[in-house]
Amino acid sequence: MTVTSGEDKIKWWKDAKFGMFIHWGLYAALGRGEWVMYELNIPVRDYERLAETFHPVRFDAKSWVGLAKAAGMKYIVITAKHHDGFAMFRSQAEPFNIADATPFGRDPMRELAEECREQGIVLCFYYSHVIDWHHPHAVHNKYNNVWDYDTDSKHFPTYWNGLVKPQIRELLTQYGPVGLLWFDTAGGLSKEDSEELVGLVRGLQPDCLINSRVSHYPDMGDYQSKGDNEIPMYGEDSRAWETPMTLNQSWGFSTKDQVWKQPEAIIRKLVHIVSKGGNLLLNVGPDAEGHIPDLSAERLREVGAWLNVHGEAVYGAAASPFPYEMEWGAVTVKPGRVYLHLTSDAWPQGELLLYGLQNKIKQAYVLSDPGRTPLETTQRYDAGMDHHTLTVGLPDKPANDCMTVIAIDIEGELSVDTRLSQQPSGHVKLEWANGRIDADAKTIEWSLQIVAPGTFDLELVCFQKEGASWDEAFREGIEAASRSRRFTAQPKPDRVIKNSTACQHPYTEVHSHLGTIVFDRPGTCTLSLRSALIRPKSGFTEIWQADPVKLRAVKLVKRQ
Ligand code: GLC
Repeated sequence: MTVTSGEDKIKWWKDAKFGMFIHWGLYAALGRGEWVMYELNIPVRDYERLAETFHPVRFDAKSWVGLAKAAGMKYIVITAKHHDGFAMFRSQAEPFNIADATPFGRDPMRELAEECREQGIVLCFYYSHVIDWHHPHAVHNKYNNVWDYDTDSKHFPTYWNGLVKPQIRELLTQYGPVGLLWFDTAGGLSKEDSEELVGLVRGLQPDCLINSRVSHYPDMGDYQSKGDNEIPMYGEDSRAWETPMTLNQSWGFSTKDQVWKQPEAIIRKLVHIVSKGGNLLLNVGPDAEGHIPDLSAERLREVGAWLNVHGEAVYGAAASPFPYEMEWGAVTVKPGRVYLHLTSDAWPQGELLLYGLQNKIKQAYVLSDPGRTPLETTQRYDAGMDHHTLTVGLPDKPANDCMTVIAIDIEGELSVDTRLSQQPSGHVKLEWANGRIDADAKTIEWSLQIVAPGTFDLELVCFQKEGASWDEAFREGIEAASRSRRFTAQPKPDRVIKNSTACQHPYTEVHSHLGTIVFDRPGTCTLSLRSALIRPKSGFTEIWQADPVKLRAVKLVKRQ
């Protein structure tokens, strides 16, 4: 991967799509995640003692970078310092670091930097700039070490000038070019301090990208970090964005957490994210010996095997031009070519219908078919409705167990009907980001194209956080209205969706039946909902600030 620079400096990252997040620190020795010091209120003196025996003899930069490569990942973001304050690099600014405080004595960041250069992977650093439970003067607006230090007598500049700035300088001067700095949990940091940090990075390495979590003020940094494990809606973000995601349910090494995502799920989530224009930063948590758990490595290799064949439809691809989710999978595009990613376990029999593609088709074929055997295509245009339909004849069986990609070569520049439209199945999912939101009036309204009129079940799609009370969230009902009907419903958690593509721990996708609505003629119709839970279009929210029950979409399911 070649890093782009100057005005185009974010291009390499946008094209890369898939990166490896590595949470590795002293906490690995306790095997219960990176928040263990805070959760157990471990005194600094005791926590420091962990370093005395931290000796990751199995750490091998070559195999870590090799794994990222085999997984099809293009960059690595590793925790240079997490909230526990322990630097995983040689630091003059603070002796509490892996090279000086452990029997290991090596600088793994240096070894990784060399290997990344060797293998063509971009090295990036995570740095916890506000939370630091080891330093007596670090101040966050919520998560501080209150068992060792008195928050009132802290002097933030001592921490900021004495540790953060010198360590950022070290990270940007000791390891060659750094692809990006990934800051985290900026709660309480002033705008001036965030800007100063951004300025420091820009001064030392102007091409180094910065994620938005450098600050809680909006639009800072070069791209938007979504909340942990958060996949946004189609069209939600106007800036470049990335979803940081766990492979199980933890970031740092955990002996207990064995809830692993399956390779198929990861591939689908990756494709889904790319079809929405984002990047996936997928995490591994190596243990205290420096070994990446086998269950993680196996999964990543399977994802890599799929990407090896289908990478053309992922790397450098642009988001789907259609503003809604496809029931059969997802769409990505490149100049002159549209890729339909079809989930193999919902393989349409015989043919696939696609609405709204206005270009003339040159040819369609299965991407993994080396002979590019042409698939049959027909195109129809309904002038009365100004509506395009493409039919692609499909092979009887999917070509891949997880996702099969159909490539469609088109004439001219891509041209698509971007109106929200009922799908060939008769259904359509209307996501919040595509509605007109009036946050004060607590209403949202969509205009959509009805192709086949009829009676529709309205299914509310929510993401419910683990432990969140449904009843409390829906103390007030939801009002739905179309031209012909208005009613109020009290949503119940009717159906939990397992294997949701967009939703994962700590949230679960829940559907509720609200009632029925009739659209009795084809053409443009409107649907509106009114609920106390309607928020303005979201910016970045830390995971603990996000609503416990988030409204996501309403699905119109056509009655047959
Ligand atoms: C959170 C957590 C942190 C983790 C990060 C990953 O903000 O505090 O432990 O590193 O998210 O995105």
